[in-house]
Amino acid sequence: MTVAFRKLHPFFAGEVAGIDLTQPLDDQMRDAIVAGLNEYAVLVFHGPCLTEDDQVAFAGRFGKLEPQNGVLTTGVKQRVSPKLVDISNLDENNGLLDRNDRRRMFSLGNRLWHTDSSFKKTPAKYSMLHAHTVVPEGGETQFVDTRAAWDALPQRMKQQVDALIVEHSIFTSRAKLGFTEFSEQERLATPPVLRRLVREHPGSGRKALYLASHASHIVDWPVPEGRMLLQDLMEHATQPQFIHTHRWQVGDLVIWDNRCTMHRACAYDADAYRRDMRRATIQDLDPAQQDLRVA
Ligand code: OGA
Ligand code: MN
Repeated sequence: MTVAFRKLHPFFAGEVAGIDLTQPLDDQMRDAIVAGLNEYAVLVFHGPCLTEDDQVAFAGRFGKLEPQNGVLTTGVKQRVSPKLVDISNLDENNGLLDRNDRRRMFSLGNRLWHTDSSFKKTPAKYSMLHAHTVVPEGGETQFVDTRAAWDALPQRMKQQVDALIVEHSIFTSRAKLGFTEFSEQERLATPPVLRRLVREHPGSGRKALYLASHASHIVDWPVPEGRMLLQDLMEHATQPQFIHTHRWQVGDLVIWDNRCTMHRACAYDADAYRRDMRRATIQDLDPAQQDLRVA
Protein backbone atom coordinates (compact mmCIF):
# COMPACT_ATOMS: atom_id res chain seq x y z
CA MET A 1 0.00 0.00 0.00
CA THR A 2 1.20 3.52 -0.61
CA VAL A 3 0.32 6.42 1.63
CA ALA A 4 -1.42 9.37 -0.03
CA PHE A 5 -2.15 12.82 1.39
CA ARG A 6 -4.83 15.28 0.31
CA LYS A 7 -4.40 18.83 1.54
CA LEU A 8 -7.43 20.13 3.43
CA HIS A 9 -6.51 23.79 4.01
CA PRO A 10 -4.38 26.33 2.11
CA PHE A 11 -1.71 26.29 4.85
CA PHE A 12 -1.78 22.82 6.43
CA ALA A 13 -3.81 19.70 7.39
CA GLY A 14 -3.96 16.57 5.26
CA GLU A 15 -6.29 13.63 4.82
CA VAL A 16 -4.52 10.28 4.67
CA ALA A 17 -5.47 7.30 2.52
CA GLY A 18 -3.79 3.93 2.08
CA ILE A 19 -3.20 2.87 5.68
CA ASP A 20 -5.02 0.21 7.68
CA LEU A 21 -4.61 1.33 11.30
CA THR A 22 -5.50 -2.11 12.67
CA GLN A 23 -2.40 -3.63 11.06
CA PRO A 24 1.12 -3.37 12.49
CA LEU A 25 2.81 -0.27 11.10
CA ASP A 26 6.13 -0.93 9.38
CA ASP A 27 9.00 1.56 9.51
CA GLN A 28 8.41 2.76 5.96
CA MET A 29 4.75 3.58 6.63
CA ARG A 30 5.65 5.20 9.96
CA ASP A 31 8.28 7.36 8.27
CA ALA A 32 5.77 8.38 5.60
CA ILE A 33 3.32 9.50 8.30
CA VAL A 34 6.05 11.45 10.12
CA ALA A 35 6.98 13.14 6.83
CA GLY A 36 3.30 13.96 6.35
CA LEU A 37 3.10 15.42 9.85
CA ASN A 38 6.19 17.53 9.23
CA GLU A 39 4.51 19.01 6.21
CA TYR A 40 0.81 19.16 7.17
CA ALA A 41 1.01 19.29 11.04
CA VAL A 42 -2.48 17.74 11.27
CA LEU A 43 -3.38 14.40 9.64
CA VAL A 44 -6.87 12.93 9.39
CA PHE A 45 -7.40 9.18 9.00
CA HIS A 46 -10.88 7.71 8.41
CA GLY A 47 -11.38 4.13 9.45
CA PRO A 48 -13.22 1.68 11.58
CA CYS A 49 -13.16 2.09 15.35
CA LEU A 50 -9.89 0.86 16.82
CA THR A 51 -9.61 -1.11 20.02
CA GLU A 52 -7.69 0.66 22.77
CA ASP A 53 -4.87 -1.87 22.28
CA ASP A 54 -4.68 -1.07 18.55
CA GLN A 55 -4.61 2.65 19.26
CA VAL A 56 -1.86 2.24 21.87
CA ALA A 57 0.17 -0.07 19.58
CA PHE A 58 -0.10 2.38 16.66
CA ALA A 59 0.85 5.36 18.84
CA GLY A 60 3.81 3.50 20.37
CA ARG A 61 5.45 3.37 16.93
CA PHE A 62 5.95 7.16 17.14
CA GLY A 63 7.67 7.43 20.52
CA LYS A 64 7.03 7.16 24.23
CA LEU A 65 3.47 7.52 25.47
CA GLU A 66 2.91 10.25 28.03
CA PRO A 67 2.36 8.85 31.52
CA GLN A 68 -1.24 9.53 32.55
CA ASN A 69 -1.05 11.08 35.96
CA GLY A 70 -3.99 13.46 35.59
CA VAL A 71 -4.05 16.90 37.18
CA LEU A 72 -7.28 16.13 39.07
CA THR A 73 -7.29 13.65 41.91
CA THR A 74 -10.81 12.26 41.49
CA GLY A 75 -10.50 9.00 43.40
CA VAL A 76 -12.65 7.23 40.79
CA LYS A 77 -11.61 4.56 38.34
CA GLN A 78 -10.64 5.74 34.85
CA ARG A 79 -13.17 4.89 32.14
CA VAL A 80 -10.47 4.25 29.54
CA SER A 81 -7.08 2.50 29.40
CA PRO A 82 -4.52 4.11 31.73
CA LYS A 83 -2.35 4.63 28.64
CA LEU A 84 -4.96 6.91 27.03
CA VAL A 85 -6.56 10.23 27.93
CA ASP A 86 -10.34 10.22 28.28
CA ILE A 87 -11.68 13.04 26.10
CA SER A 88 -15.38 12.60 26.74
CA ASN A 89 -18.32 13.89 28.74
CA LEU A 90 -18.81 10.49 30.39
CA ASP A 91 -18.30 9.10 33.89
CA GLU A 92 -16.79 5.74 34.83
CA ASN A 93 -20.15 4.04 34.10
CA ASN A 94 -20.56 5.72 30.68
CA GLY A 95 -23.23 8.07 32.07
CA LEU A 96 -23.27 11.79 31.19
CA LEU A 97 -21.21 13.85 33.64
CA ASP A 98 -23.19 16.29 35.73
CA ARG A 99 -22.45 19.93 34.95
CA ASN A 100 -21.10 20.37 38.49
CA ASP A 101 -18.70 17.45 38.15
CA ARG A 102 -15.09 18.64 38.42
CA ARG A 103 -14.08 16.45 35.47
CA ARG A 104 -16.61 18.22 33.26
CA MET A 105 -15.50 21.66 34.47
CA PHE A 106 -11.86 20.72 33.95
CA SER A 107 -12.39 19.41 30.43
CA LEU A 108 -14.21 22.61 29.43
CA GLY A 109 -10.66 23.99 29.27
CA ASN A 110 -10.31 22.11 25.97
CA ARG A 111 -12.61 24.75 24.46
CA LEU A 112 -9.77 27.30 24.80
CA TRP A 113 -7.04 27.38 22.13
CA HIS A 114 -4.14 25.31 23.42
CA THR A 115 -1.34 22.92 22.66
CA ASP A 116 -1.27 19.71 24.68
CA SER A 117 0.86 19.43 27.81
CA SER A 118 2.75 22.70 27.30
CA PHE A 119 2.44 22.99 31.10
CA LYS A 120 4.27 19.71 31.77
CA LYS A 121 8.03 19.41 32.25
CA THR A 122 8.10 17.18 29.19
CA PRO A 123 5.57 18.54 26.70
CA ALA A 124 3.63 16.58 24.08
CA LYS A 125 4.93 16.00 20.58
CA TYR A 126 2.02 14.21 18.90
CA SER A 127 -1.57 13.83 20.03
CA MET A 128 -3.64 11.07 18.43
CA LEU A 129 -7.35 11.50 19.06
CA HIS A 130 -9.74 8.70 18.10
CA ALA A 131 -13.53 9.04 17.87
CA HIS A 132 -15.70 6.29 19.37
CA THR A 133 -18.97 8.25 19.69
CA VAL A 134 -19.64 11.58 18.00
CA VAL A 135 -22.35 14.18 18.50
CA PRO A 136 -24.86 15.06 15.76
CA GLU A 137 -24.21 18.80 16.00
CA GLY A 138 -21.23 20.84 17.21
CA GLY A 139 -18.27 19.13 18.85
CA GLU A 140 -15.86 19.83 16.00
CA THR A 141 -12.17 20.30 16.69
CA GLN A 142 -10.41 23.34 15.25
CA PHE A 143 -6.71 23.65 14.47
CA VAL A 144 -4.23 26.37 13.52
CA ASP A 145 -0.67 25.99 12.23
CA THR A 146 1.53 28.31 14.29
CA ARG A 147 4.26 28.20 11.62
CA ALA A 148 1.86 29.88 9.20
CA ALA A 149 0.96 32.34 11.98
CA TRP A 150 4.64 33.08 12.56
CA ASP A 151 5.28 33.56 8.82
CA ALA A 152 2.48 36.15 8.69
CA LEU A 153 3.80 38.32 11.55
CA PRO A 154 5.27 41.71 10.65
CA GLN A 155 9.08 41.70 10.73
CA ARG A 156 9.19 44.11 13.65
CA MET A 157 7.03 41.82 15.76
CA LYS A 158 9.15 38.80 14.84
CA GLN A 159 12.21 40.59 16.19
CA GLN A 160 10.42 41.70 19.33
CA VAL A 161 9.23 38.23 20.33
CA ASP A 162 11.94 35.91 19.00
CA ALA A 163 13.90 35.45 22.25
CA LEU A 164 11.08 35.62 24.82
CA ILE A 165 10.43 32.99 27.50
CA VAL A 166 6.91 32.21 28.72
CA GLU A 167 5.63 30.61 31.91
CA HIS A 168 2.96 27.94 31.37
CA SER A 169 0.63 26.48 33.99
CA ILE A 170 -2.49 24.31 33.81
CA PHE A 171 -3.99 26.51 36.51
CA THR A 172 -3.70 29.56 34.23
CA SER A 173 -5.98 28.03 31.59
CA ARG A 174 -8.47 26.72 34.14
CA ALA A 175 -8.60 30.08 35.96
CA LYS A 176 -9.60 31.71 32.63
CA LEU A 177 -12.98 29.97 33.04
CA GLY A 178 -13.12 30.70 36.76
CA PHE A 179 -12.25 27.13 37.70
CA THR A 180 -9.86 27.57 40.59
CA GLU A 181 -10.97 24.87 43.05
CA PHE A 182 -7.79 22.85 43.16
CA SER A 183 -6.36 21.33 46.31
CA GLU A 184 -2.93 22.34 47.55
CA GLN A 185 -1.79 18.83 46.68
CA GLU A 186 -3.05 19.18 43.07
CA ARG A 187 -1.34 22.56 42.69
CA LEU A 188 1.98 21.33 44.05
CA ALA A 189 1.92 18.25 41.80
CA THR A 190 1.94 20.36 38.60
CA PRO A 191 4.21 23.39 39.07
CA PRO A 192 4.61 25.98 36.29
CA VAL A 193 7.25 25.50 33.57
CA LEU A 194 9.17 27.80 31.22
CA ARG A 195 9.12 27.54 27.43
CA ARG A 196 10.45 29.52 24.48
CA LEU A 197 7.76 31.55 22.71
CA VAL A 198 9.34 30.98 19.30
CA ARG A 199 10.83 27.63 18.43
CA GLU A 200 12.22 25.99 15.36
CA HIS A 201 10.07 23.03 14.38
CA PRO A 202 12.65 20.26 13.95
CA GLY A 203 10.76 18.35 11.27
CA SER A 204 10.39 21.25 8.86
CA GLY A 205 13.08 23.73 9.96
CA ARG A 206 10.35 26.40 10.09
CA LYS A 207 9.83 28.71 13.04
CA ALA A 208 6.63 28.35 15.05
CA LEU A 209 4.88 30.37 17.74
CA TYR A 210 4.46 28.25 20.86
CA LEU A 211 1.31 29.61 22.46
CA ALA A 212 -1.48 28.06 24.54
CA SER A 213 -4.25 28.87 26.98
CA HIS A 214 -1.76 27.61 29.58
CA ALA A 215 0.68 30.46 28.72
CA SER A 216 0.60 32.79 31.69
CA HIS A 217 3.08 35.62 31.26
CA ILE A 218 6.45 36.57 29.81
CA VAL A 219 9.45 36.11 32.04
CA ASP A 220 11.18 39.38 33.05
CA TRP A 221 8.31 41.51 31.69
CA PRO A 222 5.65 43.27 33.76
CA VAL A 223 2.82 40.71 33.95
CA PRO A 224 0.08 42.85 32.31
CA GLU A 225 2.32 43.78 29.38
CA GLY A 226 3.30 40.14 28.84
CA ARG A 227 -0.32 38.99 29.02
CA MET A 228 -1.33 41.66 26.51
CA LEU A 229 1.35 40.54 24.07
CA LEU A 230 0.32 36.87 24.47
CA GLN A 231 -3.29 37.85 23.85
CA ASP A 232 -2.33 39.83 20.72
CA LEU A 233 -0.39 36.84 19.40
CA MET A 234 -3.27 34.46 20.19
CA GLU A 235 -5.67 36.72 18.30
CA HIS A 236 -3.27 36.90 15.40
CA ALA A 237 -2.74 33.11 15.25
CA THR A 238 -6.43 32.25 15.46
CA GLN A 239 -7.76 34.50 12.70
CA PRO A 240 -10.26 32.69 10.45
CA GLN A 241 -7.82 32.28 7.57
CA PHE A 242 -5.54 30.13 9.74
CA ILE A 243 -8.25 27.78 11.08
CA HIS A 244 -9.06 24.29 9.87
CA THR A 245 -12.21 22.71 11.33
CA HIS A 246 -12.49 18.94 11.66
CA ARG A 247 -16.04 17.47 11.73
CA TRP A 248 -15.82 14.09 13.39
CA GLN A 249 -17.05 10.74 12.11
CA VAL A 250 -16.90 7.56 14.20
CA GLY A 251 -13.58 5.84 13.53
CA ASP A 252 -11.64 9.01 12.70
CA LEU A 253 -8.13 9.28 14.05
CA VAL A 254 -6.62 12.76 13.96
CA ILE A 255 -2.95 13.26 14.73
CA TRP A 256 -1.54 16.71 15.38
CA ASP A 257 1.95 17.96 16.04
CA ASN A 258 1.75 20.02 19.24
CA ARG A 259 5.08 21.69 18.48
CA CYS A 260 3.58 23.79 15.70
CA THR A 261 -0.20 23.83 16.17
CA MET A 262 -2.95 24.88 18.54
CA HIS A 263 -6.39 23.33 18.76
CA ARG A 264 -9.69 23.68 20.57
CA ALA A 265 -12.95 21.79 20.92
CA CYS A 266 -16.15 23.45 19.72
CA ALA A 267 -19.32 23.65 21.79
CA TYR A 268 -21.94 20.88 21.84
CA ASP A 269 -24.85 19.94 24.08
CA ALA A 270 -23.13 17.88 26.79
CA ASP A 271 -26.44 17.27 28.60
CA ALA A 272 -28.06 15.71 25.55
CA TYR A 273 -25.33 13.88 23.67
CA ARG A 274 -22.49 11.48 24.43
CA ARG A 275 -19.10 12.36 22.96
CA ASP A 276 -16.46 9.67 23.41
CA MET A 277 -12.91 10.25 22.20
CA ARG A 278 -9.68 8.75 23.46
CA ARG A 279 -6.26 10.30 23.04
CA ALA A 280 -2.82 8.75 22.85
CA THR A 281 -0.12 11.31 23.52
CA ILE A 282 3.54 11.02 22.49
CA GLN A 283 6.08 12.89 24.59
CA ASP A 284 8.50 15.41 23.14
CA LEU A 285 11.78 14.15 24.56
CA ASP A 286 13.93 16.60 22.54
CA PRO A 287 16.34 18.02 25.17
CA ALA A 288 15.82 21.51 23.71
CA GLN A 289 12.11 21.42 24.56
CA GLN A 290 12.24 20.54 28.24
CA ASP A 291 11.30 22.95 31.03
CA LEU A 292 13.82 25.82 30.99
CA ARG A 293 13.42 26.51 34.70
CA VAL A 294 16.68 26.16 36.55
CA ALA A 295 15.97 24.32 39.76
C1 OGA B 1 -7.48 17.00 23.15
C2 OGA B 1 -8.42 18.12 22.89
C3 OGA B 1 -10.38 18.70 21.63
C4 OGA B 1 -11.70 18.09 21.34
O1 OGA B 1 -7.86 15.84 22.92
O2 OGA B 1 -6.34 17.29 23.52
O3 OGA B 1 -8.12 19.24 23.19
O4 OGA B 1 -12.32 18.51 20.35
N1 OGA B 1 -9.54 17.77 22.24
O5 OGA B 1 -12.11 17.22 22.10
MN1 MN C 1 -5.96 19.27 23.73
